[in-house]
Amino acid sequence: MARRHFIGGNWKMNTDLATARTLATALAAQWTEGSSSVDVVLFVPFPYLESVARMIASSALALGAQDLSSEANGALTGEVSAEMLTDLGVTWVLVGHSERRHRIGESDALVAEKLAMALESGLSVVLCVGENLEQREAGHAHEVVARQLHSALAQIAREDLDRVVIAYEPIWAIGTGIAATAVDAAEAHREIRACLASRYDSELASGIRIVYGGSLVPGNAKTIFASLGVDGGLVGGASLKVHDFLSICSAAMIGVSAG
Ligand code: PGA
Repeated sequence: MARRHFIGGNWKMNTDLATARTLATALAAQWTEGSSSVDVVLFVPFPYLESVARMIASSALALGAQDLSSEANGALTGEVSAEMLTDLGVTWVLVGHSERRHRIGESDALVAEKLAMALESGLSVVLCVGENLEQREAGHAHEVVARQLHSALAQIAREDLDRVVIAYEPIWAIGTGIAATAVDAAEAHREIRACLASRYDSELASGIRIVYGGSLVPGNAKTIFASLGVDGGLVGGASLKVHDFLSICSAAMIGVSAG
C-alpha cells in the first residue's frame, strides 16, 4: 500500500522567538515544490506557537506542539491542554518523545493517557518509541518497543490510528551524530508493523506511517528514507537549519514507500 511521506521538525527547547520566526518564514517561503507529496510539520515550543502559526498560515507547512496535558482542563499549574493547542491552530502533537519519557519521567501509562487525549481532541499524533543503548546491547530492543506500543495503544480504536504516525527513535541515535543504519531502521520498522498487525490487522499495519528519528542529516536521509517501510523522519538538530531541513524534506520526495 502506498503511504505519503512525513517529515517533522522538532525544535525542542532550542529556539528563541527571533530564531523561530526566521525559521518559520524561510521554510514557509521555500517548501513549495514537495508539498504535494510530503507532509511537513513543525513542532514548535509552546510560547512561539501563535507567532509561528501566523507565519506559516498560507503555506504547505502544518503546526505541531511538542507535548500536551493528559487532562482536558483543571487546576494543573503549567500544563497545556489539547484545546489550548487547537485554539492556536495546532493540528499535530508529539507524544512519548524519549526526552519526556527519560529526562522528565513520563511513564508508559501517562503516554497512553496523552495519546488518548490528543486523539479525542481531534489532533493528529506522532507517537515516539525507541530503545536505549543498554536495552539494544542486551538484545531487548524489539521487546522494549513492543511494550511501548502495546501500552500506548491499549485503549486506542483502530479507526483513530488514521491520525497517528509512529516515530521509531532509538535513544542512542538522538542528538549523538550516530544514526541507525538503513538496515537497522528497516528491521525496526518491520518489527513495529508486525506488532501492529498482531494488535489490529495487517491492513492497518501496512497502511500506517512509520518514520525514523535520530541524527538525521542531509547526508544520510536519502538512504534511510529509501529503506523498506520507512516513511520519512522526525528531525531534531537539523530542523534548526533551513537548508538542511529542506534538503531532508526533499529527500523524502523520493516517492511514496511500500513494504
Ligand atoms: P536529532 O533529534 O535529530 O537531533 O537526533 C531527533 C529527535 O529527538 O526527534
